[in-house]
Amino acid sequence: MIPITKPFFDENEERAAAEAIRSGWVVQGPRTIEFEKMVAERVGAKYALATSNCTTALHLALIALGIGPGDEVLVPSYSFIATANSVLHAGATPVFVDIDARTYNMDPLRIEEKITPRTRAIMPVHQIGLAADIDTIHAIARKHDLLVLEDAATIIGGTYKGKPIGAHSRAVCFSFHPRKAITTGEGGMVTTNDENIARQVEMLRSHGANVSDFARHTAGKVVIEEYPVLGYNYRLTDIQGAVGVEQMKKLDWILQRRLEIGERYNQAFADLDFIETPYEPAFAKHTYQSYCVRIAHNAPKTRDEIMAAMQDAGIATRRGVMAAHLEPFYVNQYGRVSLPVTEQATRTTMLLPIYAQMTEQEIGTVIHTFRKIVIR
Ligand SMILES: Cc1ncc(COP(=O)(O)O)c(C=O)c1O
Repeated sequence: MIPITKPFFDENEERAAAEAIRSGWVVQGPRTIEFEKMVAERVGAKYALATSNCTTALHLALIALGIGPGDEVLVPSYSFIATANSVLHAGATPVFVDIDARTYNMDPLRIEEKITPRTRAIMPVHQIGLAADIDTIHAIARKHDLLVLEDAATIIGGTYKGKPIGAHSRAVCFSFHPRKAITTGEGGMVTTNDENIARQVEMLRSHGANVSDFARHTAGKVVIEEYPVLGYNYRLTDIQGAVGVEQMKKLDWILQRRLEIGERYNQAFADLDFIETPYEPAFAKHTYQSYCVRIAHNAPKTRDEIMAAMQDAGIATRRGVMAAHLEPFYVNQYGRVSLPVTEQATRTTMLLPIYAQMTEQEIGTVIHTFRKIVIR
């Protein structure tokens, strides 16, 4: 079976994790600090704060921005459900904005119609590795005095207008789940240039304490911490931090391999007019966190028939991206919202396998099998 994705680890991650264990310091500590420094430097942000995953990163970023009960946050529904859930975790209300049919990202033209007196923030998602139109979203936010925080779960190492994603908005949140280009098993990160947000996230992720365990441990004197705010335990372990350091060293190579494979697929399917390959707007290059195709209505088979045939042929696929507003929880909570572009995209798109260590033979098998199945 060719899987949908695979993390890329070698003996360096094994050694780094073992060293963290042997050191005896396994909760958030020196290795996590090193991982944070590498991410901050890579994305061009002053601060990077590791968290247990991206959902918790988003939750804390929202709280640090002062968003809570009574506030509305504009999000795309076309995203993993954690995007909208994080807004609810913060006590605010997610309001769904439809997407652009080509980029699958929040459509800036549909934002203003969703703004109410309660709207506090816009939270664009850079979906499956392609940047959303940040400048246009910022212009709308400025006009209506709204905050912007980015769900950058899928796009570590990606860029917008040539500049790394991670420092365009007040807070930007990344994921290091195994479906992402690099992984720490579970893991997240908030990046920001705002010292106040950084300080708040730092306290909130660690039970609200004003001094971290590691800072107390290394102070060389007795330090008694205080708890000025209600916090959470959203820390990364140092075993994960150690793996993160090694994964960051591989990031460029992994992204390059994904780009090569994505471009191979683009070429291989270019002649099929009923298969829509990923679109790249002028402002961003795709990083192919996932490789998504849309099956047009004139295709000989439906998306679900193609996915079933690929499964039978030993190749894993996934539906494109879910639409949170169609899930029972959101329908029960908010009633049935209409988002036609999102609904069409979630019905007609699917993901093909992509991972850095894919062999020539595996790439060839996916291309050959997919073409054979969709043509007949
Ligand atoms: C767009 C988006 N946001 C948030 C998340 C949540 O990330 P995590 O699994 O690290 O909590 C994901 C994960 O799949 C995602 O794709």
